[in-house]
Amino acid sequence: MSQAPTPTASAPAPAGSRLTTIGVVGAGVMGRGIAQLFAQSGQAVCLHDAAPGAAQGAIDAIDKVWSGLVAKGRMDEPGLAAARKRLTSVDDLAGLKDCDLVIEAIVERLDVKRDLFARLEAVLADEAILASNTSSLSITEIAAAARLPGRVAGLHFFNPVPLMKIVEVIGGIRTDAAVCERLMALVKATGHNAVAAADQPGFLINHAGRGYGTEALRIVGEGVADFETVDRIMREQIRFSGGGFRLGPFELLDLTGLDVSQAVMESIFNQFYNEPRFTPSALAAQRRAGGLFGRKNGQGFYDYRPDGSGARAPSMAGAGEAPARPTPAAIAALAKTPVLLAPSAVAAGLEALVLALGGRPVHSTGDLGSDGFILSAPLGIDATGEAVRDSLKAPFVVAIDTLFDPAADGVLRRSLMPTVATEAARLDAAAAFFARDGAQVSRLRDSTGFVAQRIVAMIVSIATEIAQQRIATPADIDLAVRMGLGYPVGPLTMGDEIGPARVLGILQGIYDTSGDPRYRPGGWLRRRAALGLSLLVND
Ligand code: NAI
Repeated sequence: MSQAPTPTASAPAPAGSRLTTIGVVGAGVMGRGIAQLFAQSGQAVCLHDAAPGAAQGAIDAIDKVWSGLVAKGRMDEPGLAAARKRLTSVDDLAGLKDCDLVIEAIVERLDVKRDLFARLEAVLADEAILASNTSSLSITEIAAAARLPGRVAGLHFFNPVPLMKIVEVIGGIRTDAAVCERLMALVKATGHNAVAAADQPGFLINHAGRGYGTEALRIVGEGVADFETVDRIMREQIRFSGGGFRLGPFELLDLTGLDVSQAVMESIFNQFYNEPRFTPSALAAQRRAGGLFGRKNGQGFYDYRPDGSGARAPSMAGAGEAPARPTPAAIAALAKTPVLLAPSAVAAGLEALVLALGGRPVHSTGDLGSDGFILSAPLGIDATGEAVRDSLKAPFVVAIDTLFDPAADGVLRRSLMPTVATEAARLDAAAAFFARDGAQVSRLRDSTGFVAQRIVAMIVSIATEIAQQRIATPADIDLAVRMGLGYPVGPLTMGDEIGPARVLGILQGIYDTSGDPRYRPGGWLRRRAALGLSLLVND
């Protein structure tokens, strides 16, 4: 044990100067990551934990990580020696008195964090900054109990800290702007990205992340598809410029653990006074109550037990092997399936795909025989609704999702859905037809917006509301969500790539059909779609 190293020991840093001596309280998962990051990037770091020996234990663990980096050639010996010197621990809070910034990463409880800050204020200089790594508490509420609330801010890191290169800097209502600016500069000096976020529930990233899992749970809850089908569609059908989603929503829920995710969903819903966009799922609540948390206890939506007999997570089940791709000549040799293109399918340019798959476009239902079908491409409307609107014979109708071009080169998966009256044999024929080139086919029950349309539109909807509420700038929303949640592109860029008017059409359609205010389009999206502007345009 030693006292905090004191490069700036005699006087606290004046406003505007660099923060060089950092205290970290809480040496758990996050605290040790934060300590490692700053010590590695040149700051003197002093770690404290209430549990005896925990801080020194964390330093030993960090040392092992550094030795590993040296072995891999990613850190040199002098760098290791210097980093070791910069990282120390103290037994009591008084040992942090010379720090110009103290970051707490202790237990997630308002009363405990407030008490810690009160005790820190008794030993620190008035100019020192107090930062909280809280992920769900209000910075304003933590600061309200401080003697000098202007110096309290949020510094929200992600796990694992050294690898997740994004940090939210959160100013509470009474936080001095200069405090946030100094924290932004400090984070950037480590090589991580810093984004400024307002003190709102979930800040930026956890708020933006509500669309994916919550809408997926809705879809399963409505009986449109099972969770494996939803995961496959989200991994294999979505193609943005940056690729698709690496994990389906249910794989992700299993990774995070439903005990944690459901609590976050409920907390954000409650903190926003029952905003319908965040309505949690009864289905998830029941699974949590039943102890199906996910990977951490062996059973979630998937079964991770070595001898488990339930559904295997796709990554464990060997999914993803390249499907066989028949040649165009082999497809041409197949029977010519009669297909009548509904107006929406013509508008979506599906005739070329029908021809490429060996279909025979016809113009009358009398020519459809026993295995032909009417192909429709609804956007923001269900197959039944479109059949009624366009006077299509519902028993013949099969709808395909065209949010992402189902004719694109190497397409992995297509989604089909029938009306409630579609004859089973015609749906079977359509499913076989759209698999002719080796693509996988997912069959859904009739729903407004299939699966991909609904989930993507909800992600974009929530992000545009974050922009509208000025929680962060459009550019920061995209950067933070891409880095924090691992999405292929930021959510506003997702909306731009699909087209703001199409996203608006999907949401408006679901809202009109269901009457559920969860889907009501917000002003940010509506205005930009109306003027043909990018969702990244600020006003
Ligand atoms: P953890 O449970 O791994 O570590 C907490 C540490 O704080 C423990 O070592 C404990 O002994 C110590 N501690 C508790 N009360 C203390 C007190 N009054 N004074 C000094 N030490 C105290 O927790 P974890 O996961 O590192 O989380 C810490 C904080 O970071 C929480 O506020 C959490 O919400 C937040 N956070 C966690 C993330 C995660 O992925 N685990 C991500 C982002 C934020």
